[in-house]
Amino acid sequence: MKKDNNNNNSSPKGRATFGSRIGLIAATVGSAVGLGTIWRFPAMVQRNGGSAFLLVYILCVLLLGIPVMLGEFSLGRAGQSDPVGVFRKLSPKRPWWLVGLLGVVAAYVILSFYMVVTGWTAEYLVQSVTGDLFRPVDGLEAGSSSMFLAKMNSYISSPVSPVIYTFIMLCVSTGILMLGVQKGIERMSNIMMPMLFALMLIFVFVTLQMPGRDAGLEFFLKPDFSKITSRTCIDALGQAFFSLSLGMGTLITYGSYFPKNTPLGKTAISVSSLTLLVAILMGLIIFPAVMTFGLQGESFDGAALVFVTLPEIFSRMPAPGLWAILFFLLLVVAALTSCISIAEVAIVFIHDRFGLKRRNAVLAVMIPMIPLTTICSLSTGALPELKILGQSVFNFLDTFATNYLLPGGALLMCLYLGWFAPKGLLRNQLTNNGTLRAWYTTPIRLLIKYLCPLLIAMLLLVGS
Ligand code: PHE
Repeated sequence: MKKDNNNNNSSPKGRATFGSRIGLIAATVGSAVGLGTIWRFPAMVQRNGGSAFLLVYILCVLLLGIPVMLGEFSLGRAGQSDPVGVFRKLSPKRPWWLVGLLGVVAAYVILSFYMVVTGWTAEYLVQSVTGDLFRPVDGLEAGSSSMFLAKMNSYISSPVSPVIYTFIMLCVSTGILMLGVQKGIERMSNIMMPMLFALMLIFVFVTLQMPGRDAGLEFFLKPDFSKITSRTCIDALGQAFFSLSLGMGTLITYGSYFPKNTPLGKTAISVSSLTLLVAILMGLIIFPAVMTFGLQGESFDGAALVFVTLPEIFSRMPAPGLWAILFFLLLVVAALTSCISIAEVAIVFIHDRFGLKRRNAVLAVMIPMIPLTTICSLSTGALPELKILGQSVFNFLDTFATNYLLPGGALLMCLYLGWFAPKGLLRNQLTNNGTLRAWYTTPIRLLIKYLCPLLIAMLLLVGS
């Protein structure tokens, strides 16, 4: 942490900051773009009948995502602390710090299952490198979905390898986190984010040459308003949250590392449009390929899209191994930068609240992750009897976090900012204390005060 302070952008109290605007955007996009954007998004599009979902998702990002993101950035930069410390500082006499604590709990919960999926993607990367992924299975047609399904089930339900791969990814994340905000998170994002975009562009280039291109593009892009249902809206709202890393204090934490002169509005626009771009690129990759190979009837739910449908597509392309390696590399990169941002919420909480050195705070978060991720991992296959309320631990934590903790956290943050925060907080942050002209300040304030809480409350009600 100390080394991070040796830069011109440090706050007076010596809080770590991001070193450059590009780095700050790379790190924030790195948090946003992860398994949610790359894997969950196309599955949601498929489930909700195509382009209708894209349209509602874009609306949700604009009307809900950007205001909540600006709210989180503002809270973090105004409070210069961890999510609990921010509320304590801004409203010392009220129990709003519990909202921050909810975020820290969400960080532990989400990290426990997110890390496991990151471990699976790492295993798939290794299997692609060794060629094992495409090796035929006795009695099953080579390269068929049933073959990849059998492989997925055998990888995921093994009691050993997923636990080991998850542990390896935990160690990699721990190493990066120990290096600190600038030397770890920012530097890694600066390398990994351009790599991710480059890999995606290669894929788009290839899939846009495929014969199913037109059918795929029509399914994904041609608006069909008749397909918009209440389910579409709810799914799109949830997806907007998860993919923009909202509702958990991640962006409060990153906002607390923003230098004083960072223009929050421009940053939020860059981060959300880059995230949107990745989602759209992912659609441009998946749907032409799916149409080309006639896989539109297959289930994309759960892990199937990434671990069954995509390998099936790769196996029908020339050099399947190469595509698989590139794709799983892309996914590991995206997942890692998100894991790090999730863990950072809990790390900075322990660092700021209990005064632990950064290294020790990292260990205090990551060591308990070993048993937690192991339980999650085993509950998906080897030990199905590990259940909470009738669901596997993995599924329970996943649904509980995405459907309740994140929207709940975002709802409380909007209520706080709209009705209870110190006067002028949002305006001062959006205008950098009056030095920036930000015409959108009033519309954003109104959205946070009225529309966002209303929409999120609806989502929570219908979702339950
Ligand atoms: N946005 C990440 C993704 O799309 C997940 C995430 C959720 C990260 C909440 C941080 C906080 O994969």
